[in-house]
Parts: sequence; structure tokens; C-alpha cells
Amino acid sequence: MSDTAQTYPDTPRVDARDKVRGTTRYAADDARADMLHATLAIATIGRGRVDRVSTRAARTIPGVRLVLTHDDAEVAGLKAAGFVMGGGYAFQNFQPMLSPEIAYRGQPIALVVAETLEAATEAAVLVEATYTPAPIQVSLDAPAADIVAQADSPLPKPMFADVATGDADAAFADAPLKIDAAYTGPPQHQNPMELLATVAEWGDDGTLIIHEGTQNAEGVRQGLARQLGLTPDKVRVISPYVGGSFGQKNSLQMHTALTAVAARRLKGPVKLVVPRAQGFHDASFRPASRHRMRLGAERDGRMVAAIHEADSQTSRHDLFPTQYASLTARLYGIGNFRGRERLVRTDVQTPGYMRAPYEHIAAFALEGAVDELAYELDMDPVALRIANDTTTDPITKRPFSSRHLAECLRRGAERFGWSRRAMAPGSMRADDGSLVGWGVASGAYPGSTAPAIARLRITDTGGVFIDVGVHEMGQGVRTALAAAVAARLRVPVECVIAEIGDTRGTPQHLTAGAWGTATAVPAAVEAAEAMLDALRHLDPEGADGADGAARRSPAHILKAAGRASLEVEIRRKAQGQPDAIFGQLTQGLVAAAGPEYPEFVTYSYIAHFVEVRIEPGTHRVRIPRVVSVADCGRVVSPRTARSQVAGGVVWGIGASLREVSEVDARFGGFLNDDLADYVVPVNADIGSIEVDLIDEPDPLLNSVGVKTLGEVAMVGVAPAIANAIHHATGRRLRDLPIRIEQVL
Ligand code: MOS
Repeated sequence: MSDTAQTYPDTPRVDARDKVRGTTRYAADDARADMLHATLAIATIGRGRVDRVSTRAARTIPGVRLVLTHDDAEVAGLKAAGFVMGGGYAFQNFQPMLSPEIAYRGQPIALVVAETLEAATEAAVLVEATYTPAPIQVSLDAPAADIVAQADSPLPKPMFADVATGDADAAFADAPLKIDAAYTGPPQHQNPMELLATVAEWGDDGTLIIHEGTQNAEGVRQGLARQLGLTPDKVRVISPYVGGSFGQKNSLQMHTALTAVAARRLKGPVKLVVPRAQGFHDASFRPASRHRMRLGAERDGRMVAAIHEADSQTSRHDLFPTQYASLTARLYGIGNFRGRERLVRTDVQTPGYMRAPYEHIAAFALEGAVDELAYELDMDPVALRIANDTTTDPITKRPFSSRHLAECLRRGAERFGWSRRAMAPGSMRADDGSLVGWGVASGAYPGSTAPAIARLRITDTGGVFIDVGVHEMGQGVRTALAAAVAARLRVPVECVIAEIGDTRGTPQHLTAGAWGTATAVPAAVEAAEAMLDALRHLDPEGADGADGAARRSPAHILKAAGRASLEVEIRRKAQGQPDAIFGQLTQGLVAAAGPEYPEFVTYSYIAHFVEVRIEPGTHRVRIPRVVSVADCGRVVSPRTARSQVAGGVVWGIGASLREVSEVDARFGGFLNDDLADYVVPVNADIGSIEVDLIDEPDPLLNSVGVKTLGEVAMVGVAPAIANAIHHATGRRLRDLPIRIEQVL
């Protein structure tokens, strides 16, 4: 049942009108009259224990109904939900308020519930605590005892083993040309527009209903059931839209069970919105990392060795695993590779996946080093990259199922006008005297997919309802689902409704790692094929319009057969996954496969071309234009796909030139915890972003030919900018974010 030849029109976003009119309802958009409001009081030391929490003053505020601390037996009795990377459901193992332990600054120490948000906020400030502090360590410069070699850690292997092939050290030693450079990336926070927010309410039958914007409704359900000692059928999680997430809302948050406990105690719905400042400490973030990158090459530009050694921040209580070197090992056809990942324990909440977690910063290091090599060789950076292309994965020796990186580079170079670039740094100037720099970099991202169960129901009134595991986080998956199902059933796009993000439907597996579309759309298309089969049983001629018969619509066929509705269900898993994977799926555990499959390896690719201008007086860096060309397999929803890439470029500009979560070594925590001090790009920072998509179907990954896109969009933006700044100024900047004082 392969139909990768199917192409898709430029479908308008199905939720565009509602979004523009402000009628889209996000999970916690709920203003019922009887709603109670919760806020968190947080720890003001970097680590240690709380000796006493006094809630007396807080309770004097009119309207306060409840203050929960670790002294509350029900709170202290919550079970840990487990770490999402260790067979659990939460972003970290540590659940605050089960004990007096303080693991990091900003950790919740009390939950205050009141009749109004104002009362709750005022009361939370009045929660008083006395502490016994302990020494803290928040930077990568930790004592040796706090540095863990990932290869020797209990993290599951081979997934988190060091990546190696050939003899990289020997090949590097023998290489006539060598690059050896250190790159760093700062901690960063996702800062989605929609804050972390939950509404918890209990039904009369003891069922807990959680309204929360999450990428992982099933994981939140299962995790809460474990924490509260319920069976999973007693918990329902509803996440209709997520107002941005980028990895931050990928698992059970620390405050959700506390909100549920409060709602049960107070016998009414409780809403908790985590203020932005608290979100800096109450959810995962991009860890600080440093990278030593070595490249060895022949004089003709062929890279023969690469060594990538990475240190990445983790918490004291968890090992947040990394796979930085995987990208480095696979972006080019380098025969000898050695990667080494180490984790540095620091006193923060556990870091996590922030778009694109490993690949963004690995590409910054690798693609910076490749540009350095181009200048060592005096070879055009695009030509150097194309000369090191490969069709085989260097690590497994399996073929890439599809790989159009060279085409991305060629097409991007053409659209950008790269042939007019002069190689020498500092050789291009604008009319206003600005230095002009043109930089290029490639990116790649694993082509993962998750198993899915898809249920498709049609009605004799023309309704088409697709229920499949995926979450709408703004990426446009409702549009992609509607476009794909409409094309197969040959019905108008607006008839197709995606029923997603609700655990009452099919299992809502974590939507992350850019696998949402590649997971849900092939499953939906297979359900549509099954529906066509079912319609053929009802009306052999009309379903296909075979033998000269006029083709009849699904609704028409149902009506003629006297059926009000028809439903089909299919199950789909990735190549090589056992049937037992559906057990993991229904338990809300991460069940994704890839990028390695039994017979092939799948990655998505992108090439970014960036122009920077550096103003002569201020040395301010401007980015007037970017051209990005992506290979994401078949494009099911061209409009939202292009929008994903443009958004990824903006995200990359922020990650490169603006964003850093500042740490104070004395006090711990993150200092610039609001959008005034944590600077993200604004409209005035963004110029022209031209996006092109190769739209060649992947022939092996699934029947639609679609690969991943959301994350690869930003991979390579940072090095393209840094390489462009080098081209403008002659300066190699290897630490993010790049700031004016470095450019001066
Ligand atoms: Mo992905 S790290 O969930 O944007």
C-alpha cells in the first residue's frame, strides 16, 4: 500500500480563522465562576533543606482556601512518576514537596489556592520558610566527581553509548589538514507564549480530568495515575492546542499532581498558571554544553577523521542523556569517527529537550569547524560540503532511506546567489558601509516515528473524523491530517476533523522529536485506505468509480446502504518494531523508533544560507536575508511546512544572537527569568526568510513518504550566522550567543 507519488496542494491552515479571531481554546482557557486559583511559593536557596514552612500569614489573606506544603500527608504521600527517559513520565525523577529537600532554587515549597488569582498570588508571597542551605555548583566547571561519562552510566545502551567507527585518533594524527576548536552553548529556556497551565477537576465518579497544554497527554495521564495511586482509566487528559512548547511540555510537570490534590480537597476545579519567572525553574530547559571538535582532512577536501567530545549539564538527581555526537558522525561521509559524551551534575532542575536538543549545538560546532576547514583549504564552503556527501550511514553502513542534502545546498546556493560571493573575509561591503558576510551551514535531524492507532469515522452527513495520537502545538498537524485524509477519500478538506490530544480517544503518544507528522499522517492515510476498502464492500463500483460508473462520495455510499456511520481502525508501527510496542504505546511510554531501522537509516536535511550585515558604528549584527532549503520527504501541508521552517530560522536566530539563561554561581537558579531580560528576536530582528522544500518522498519510511521537519528547521542556523560573521569580519566566534562585544 505505497502511494508516495501522491502530491498535496497548498491547503490553508484549518485553524487559521479561529487563531486570528482569538477563538481557539487552549487547554487551561477556562473562566468558570466557581474556578479556584492556585499559585506556587518557591524556594529561595540554591540547594539544601527547608526547616520550617510557615503558612500562617498566607492563610490570613481573604479568599485563601488551602495552603499545601510537604507537611501535608497527602502531598508527602504522592508517588514519584519517574523520569521520562527512565521508563517514567515526568521531566525529572525529583518531585518537589514530598520531603523538606530543596534540590534547586525556584523549586516549589507550597501551593496556595484561593478564590481569586490575586489572593493566591498575594498569599504565596507571604509563605515564609527557613532553610539550611548546602553548597551549590551550577556551571560546567565542576569537580571531577560530578562529571559522569555517559558510556559508563546506567543510561540504556546502545542508545546512549559513545558513537564510533574506524580509528579516528590515528586518522586525525595522520591527516595533512587539521581543525581543533572548542565551541560552547549556554543554557536556554523555551519560553512558549502559552505558559505552563493546568485545570484539574474531579468528577462525581472519582475521575480526574486534567486540562493542560502538553505534548504528551497519555504520559501525563499515566504519570498522574501513578502519582495519585489511581488506575489510568480514572484519569483523562485533554490537550486540544498547545500554544508553543518546543520540548518544554513533553512530559508530566511538577505542579500537575499538586493541583489535582488541591482540587480533590476543595471539591471544585482548580487552575494553576505557572508565571513565566517560575517556569524558568519549574520545567526542563536546554542545558549548557561545551564541545571540542577535531576534523582531519586530505588536501583535496575529503574529511577523513572527526572527533567530537561533549560535556553537557545535567541535574544532581538525574542524568539527562545526550547524543550530540550522532549528528557529527552522520552529517557527512567521514570514515573515522569518535564521539564522547559526558554529563556534568549541577544544582538545577533536570534539563531536557529544547528544539533541536542535540543537533542545534552539535551543528554549531561541526559546521563551524567545517567552515574553518574550508578556509584552511581555500575551498568554497558549499563545494566542500558537497564533496563530503554520502549515501551510506557511516556508523551502521546501512543506506540512508533518502538524502537530498547536496540538492538542498545546490538549490539554496542558486536561490541565494552564492556564486557572487568573494571568498576573502571582509571583502564585501554594503552602500552604508556595513560589513557584509555570507555564510552557509547544513543541518540534519533523525527521522524518527512512533507507533500509532488511527480510528477513522465517516457519517452519512459528510462528516469525516480522524482520531489518532498526535498533539497540535501550532505546527499545523490538524491541517496536515485533514489534507492527507481528504486527498485519499476525495472529500473537501473542511469536512475532515482531527480529534487529537484527548486521552479518551486513541493513545496520545508523546509528540516530539519532530515525528508528529511522520507518525500521525501515515497512520491516518492507512486508515483512509482501510475506509476505502470498507466502502468498496458497500458499493463495489461507486467507491472507485470503476468500469465507467460515476464515483460516489463516502456519505452518498453510506446513505444508499442505509448506514448512519462507518468506522475503521488501523495500527501502524515503524519497520522493525515488535508488536509489543503497542503495549508501550498504551502505557504512555516513549515508543518511538529511528533514525536506525533494520534496513536503513533516516534523517531529514536542510541547508541555510545567511547574509549578515555589521553596522560600522555600533557593530550591531543584522540578518537581512536567509534562504533555507529542506529535505523533509513528501510535503503533505506545504503552507504549514514552510511556516515551520521560517519559524525554525527565527528560533535559530534567537538561539544564536539573543538567548541565554544567565546563572549566578553564588545563588543558583536563573536570573533573567522574564521576557524583558531573556531576550528573544522581535519582528524588527527578522528580515527576508525564503523557504524551499525539496518534496521528494522518502521511499522506505512510510507509505506517504513523509519524514521529520519541525526540529531540522533550526539545525544549522547558528553556524550559518557565525560563518557569515566570520566572512564579514574575519573573526571566528565559537560561543553562543554571539554578542556585539565579541564582534567588536
Ligand atoms: Mo521538540 S525538542 O519536542 O521541539
